[in-house]
Amino acid sequence: MSNTTSKFFSPLQKTINEALQGTAYVQNENSEKKTTKHAFIETYGCQMNFSDTEIIASILSDLGYGFTQQEQEADLVLINTCSIRENAEQKVWNRLKHLKYLKKQKPSLMVGIVGCMAERLRYKLLDEEQLVDLVVGPDAYRSLPTLLQEVESGQRAVNVLLSREETYADIAPLRYHSNGVSAFISIMRGCNNMCSFCVVPFTRGRERSRDWQSIVKEAKELVELGYREVTLLGQNVDSYYYEGCTFADLLEKVALVDSRLRVRFSTSHPKDITDRVLEVMAGYENICKFIHLPVQSGSTRILELMNRGYTREWYLDKIERIRYYLPNCGLSTDIIAGFCSETEEEHQQTLSLMEIVRFDSAFMFCYSERPGTLAARKFRDDVPETVKKRRLSEIIDLQNQHSRESNFRDIGKVFTVLVEGDSKRSSADYCGRNDQNKMVVFPKQGTSFKSGDYVKVKITAASSATLLGQLQS
Ligand code: 5AD
Ligand code: SF4
Repeated sequence: MSNTTSKFFSPLQKTINEALQGTAYVQNENSEKKTTKHAFIETYGCQMNFSDTEIIASILSDLGYGFTQQEQEADLVLINTCSIRENAEQKVWNRLKHLKYLKKQKPSLMVGIVGCMAERLRYKLLDEEQLVDLVVGPDAYRSLPTLLQEVESGQRAVNVLLSREETYADIAPLRYHSNGVSAFISIMRGCNNMCSFCVVPFTRGRERSRDWQSIVKEAKELVELGYREVTLLGQNVDSYYYEGCTFADLLEKVALVDSRLRVRFSTSHPKDITDRVLEVMAGYENICKFIHLPVQSGSTRILELMNRGYTREWYLDKIERIRYYLPNCGLSTDIIAGFCSETEEEHQQTLSLMEIVRFDSAFMFCYSERPGTLAARKFRDDVPETVKKRRLSEIIDLQNQHSRESNFRDIGKVFTVLVEGDSKRSSADYCGRNDQNKMVVFPKQGTSFKSGDYVKVKITAASSATLLGQLQS
């Protein structure tokens, strides 16, 4: 995902683009304000961070900020950060070095670090790097107006308090990253799982679910604005629970908002996903048949050390349940190579699990020890870096083969595709996603579809990343 906007706008999107281009007015639903200051927001990490940036943008817009895509034009630069792996943090340290140079040229520039790194490294950010004016954790965005006032009066400001209640339910996100077709809806925050490798429970705090009423309302408003796809976001959506409403119930309520609205969700947890969720998915055509189900490892011993709460067999059984209810369901996963004490044989078990499941796609990583996590406290990060890298490349090679095979199996099939706009490579082609989340590119052939239209496309060719097709009349 990038920070750029597409050429296709819903009414709200158009407003954001005007704001991004630094024109004088930011229009909220019911207000028109003169913008005097401009913010540049850069986002790293997961979809949740991108969704949070939209909350931050909304708060800044209420303060009269417009948005620019040129950091040189900005009065405020905010970096929404990720701590999940060391290299994610390293990228931000490098960016800060560059911003130091920018700030020398423009001393009035305010620089803020928000998100997971703010939570984890507040002292280091404030004390060691004198450059940062503002440090705000994921549950403290409401305090941005006060904190910015402090910064404007020459102080440095920080709020990294975690909350047990904050869901930002009442803040209408400014769809900063959106293409006008597809939007994120955050349904819960934090995580209670304590997977031993993961820093998220420490940076994002305890799990809490947002009330379903405000989620349904947000989905309805998005449909009215022309959006045709929502992704319900949470660190572990299957443990969503609000006053008797489970994730399965919520999914159904959102599916019922409008049959033209596609519903996606992420991330599911193998120990928590229920048959009821699968039944609801099967029951509604507009719920996309796609599940991101991180496995992390194919070895039961490693899964236990990871504190994942399931075994290899349990995971494979879940996959069977999914295929029973949803025979054509797309599946993706996350895999970690070289977790503490992982043997060659256990690595082979990961490869063999991949062979059995045949994921359509995967996010694959080398294990990266995160300070403060259970694994960092209890286990030695003892798989040599070269071994981790070799195992990761074996995993990636196998996955590429599976992704290619999965795409080739689609040749000859006809899919309903939600048009997102012109393809990146050519304005003679459209692109959009099918139900299983695969990107489909097809020639316009003189048609004039808009982003948000549904079309039928017959697949004629494929690569490991994309399906190519022709419009079906
Ligand atoms: N090292 C490597 N990968 C990690 N992930 C989370 N923590 C780590 C870590 N310390 C991966 C997991 C998770 C995804 C979001 O990031 O696979 O599912
Ligand atoms: Fe991290 Fe596990 Fe929670 Fe995912 S479920 S955010 S991997 S602790």
